[in-house]
This record gives sequence, structure tokens and C-alpha cells, in this order.
Amino acid sequence: MVSVVLIRSGSECVVTMPPGTRLADACLQRKPSPLPLGCRKGGCGTCLVRVVEGAPGPRTEREDDFFRRTAFDRPELRLGCQLWPHRSLVLEAVISRKEVL
Ligand code: FES
Repeated sequence: MVSVVLIRSGSECVVTMPPGTRLADACLQRKPSPLPLGCRKGGCGTCLVRVVEGAPGPRTEREDDFFRRTAFDRPELRLGCQLWPHRSLVLEAVISRKEVL
């Protein structure tokens, strides 16, 4: 199993899942989801996270498209709905885009 620690507004939540499971799907098993979610297709940015620890792998095409058209492209930022973790991660939800501008 893979563990993903999600930090949101100072609180931590650990989500465990089989390797390669989409993080968004694992989060939707909980009510409320520990990861803010909107479109779940890489389009809205609601699920924007900062990678605090771990290596989530390369960005998907949808993430590349999203970050190309936004002003806050930094290597540590990812879209949580576009992650299929194979290793443990620590992620921090970006609640306000002002945090990363
Ligand atoms: S939920 Fe919309 S981009 Fe991830």
C-alpha cells in the first residue's frame, strides 16, 4: 500500500491506497474528501497541491496543459487529480492561488 499525507489548513490526513490508484479516487472514498476536488480532469486547478516530500513521477499531459495556461507554474506544484502514486508522498493543498503567485 502507498500512503499519501495530505496537509490542508494545518491538519494532516493520511490516505492509503494500492500503488497506481488515482489519488482523487482514493480521496472520494472519504466524506468529506481530504483533497479539494472539482472537475477531476486537470482543468480547474481546485486540486492544486505542493509536493512537500516524495517523487510523484512526471506530469501528465493535462497537467502540462494546465500549468502552461496559468501563471503559477513551479516544479513542486501538481494537480492532485492527476496523480497515481506508486510511492508515499506528502502533499499540501494550495487553498488560495495567492499562496503560489
Ligand atoms: S479537480 Fe479540477 S484540475 Fe483537479
